[in-house]
Amino acid sequence: MIEAMPWPDLGDLLRLVSHPIPPRDEKLAQPWMLEGDRPTWLSRSSWGMAALARVVAEKTGREARIGLPEYFCEQALWPLRRERPLLHFYPVDERGWPDWEKLEGQGPPPDLFYLVHYYGHANDHARARAFCDRTGALLVEDATHALGPDSEIGLDGDVVFYSPWKFFPTPNGALMLVRPRGAALIAPLAAVLASMGRGVAPGLQWIKAAARLMAAGDRTGGWTRQASDFFRGLPIEPMAVRPLASPVSKPVLARQDLAEVARRRRENDAALRRRLLEIPGWAPFDPVPSQAPMRSAFRTQSPEQTAEAYVALRRAGIQADGWPTLPPEVLERGSSGVRLRRTVLNLPCHQGLTPERILAAVDRSGLGGA
Ligand SMILES: Cc1ncc(COP(=O)(O)O)c(C=O)c1O
Repeated sequence: MIEAMPWPDLGDLLRLVSHPIPPRDEKLAQPWMLEGDRPTWLSRSSWGMAALARVVAEKTGREARIGLPEYFCEQALWPLRRERPLLHFYPVDERGWPDWEKLEGQGPPPDLFYLVHYYGHANDHARARAFCDRTGALLVEDATHALGPDSEIGLDGDVVFYSPWKFFPTPNGALMLVRPRGAALIAPLAAVLASMGRGVAPGLQWIKAAARLMAAGDRTGGWTRQASDFFRGLPIEPMAVRPLASPVSKPVLARQDLAEVARRRRENDAALRRRLLEIPGWAPFDPVPSQAPMRSAFRTQSPEQTAEAYVALRRAGIQADGWPTLPPEVLERGSSGVRLRRTVLNLPCHQGLTPERILAAVDRSGLGGA
C-alpha cells in the first residue's frame, strides 16, 4: 500500500518514550522561522486562522474581511466560520495563483489576504506582497502544504502558517509565525488563543492506534483500496476546541531532518512526474517542481480522465486523492475552485516511500497502458 502519510515505525514510538520532553517551543520552531519571528505551536493551523480573524474584528470593531482562494478546504474553515467573518473567495488560475485582474476589481480590500502554496509549490508571493502593501491588508502566507521555508516560500507574509503534522508521523502540530511587521498582533493573539481554551489536542489515542496497527503488521493506518465517488466531497466534521499542539507531537517533530525529508520527497515526486507526464492528457499541477512537495499533484484534460485515474490508482493500492470539500460559496459551475476540484489529483510522495515502490504500484494500475 502506498499510503498518503508516513506512519510511525517502532523506532519513532520508542524514541517517544526515551525522549518525551521536547525542546522549548521557540527552539522547536527554529527550522521554520526567519529571524525576528514569534512562533506559536497549535494543534492545527485552522485554529490560528480563527484567532487571527477575532483579533482583527476586535481591533476594527466590525466583522473581519478575509480574502481566500476559491480552491480551499471547507473543513479547514470550521474554526474560522465560528468567528462569523466576511469571507470573500477570489478566483485562481490553473496552478492556484490569484487571478489578479478579477480580484482587484472586487469590492473593498480584505483585512487578511491568504495566499496558499498549494501542495508545496510556491505561489505568486511578490505580487501578493505588493497587493497587500497597496491595500493595507495583512498578508497571510498559507504554507500549510509546505514542509518549511525555502527560496520562494515563507518570505513575504506578515503571518505564516505551517502544518508539519501533514508531513510527519504525528497526530497534530502546526505553527503560526508572526513577523516583526505584525508585532502588534502578538499579545492579542495570545489572549484570544487563551480564551479559546487551554485544550490540548489528544495524542495518546493516536499512539495506541499506531501501536495496535504496528503489532498487526498493518502499515496503512486503516486505509483501504476502496475508491469512493471522486466527485463527492468529504463530510464536514465539527472540531473539538483544542487549539494547542499535543505533547506527543513535539518530541516527534524535534527529531526531524527537514533537508533530508525534502530530498526524498523531491526524488519521489520527480519519479512520478517522469512516469505520469508520459500519459496523453496529463500535466503537472504546477510546471515548476516543488522544493519539498506535500503531494505530487497532476491535472488531466477532463474530469472523467481524472476520475478514472483516481479509481485505477486506488485499486492498485495508491492512496490518490482529490481536494476534500469546497466551500458552499464556490460550488457554482464554472468557478475556478470547481474546475480544479474536478481535474486535479494528488498522489503520495512522502519520505517513507521510494521511487521504486511508487512506480511499481503505478505500473499495477495500468495507467498509460503500462
Ligand atoms: C490550504 C489549506 N490551508 C489551511 C489548512 C488548515 O490546516 P490544518 O489542517 O493544520 O488546520 C488546510 C488543511 O487541510 C489547507 O489545505
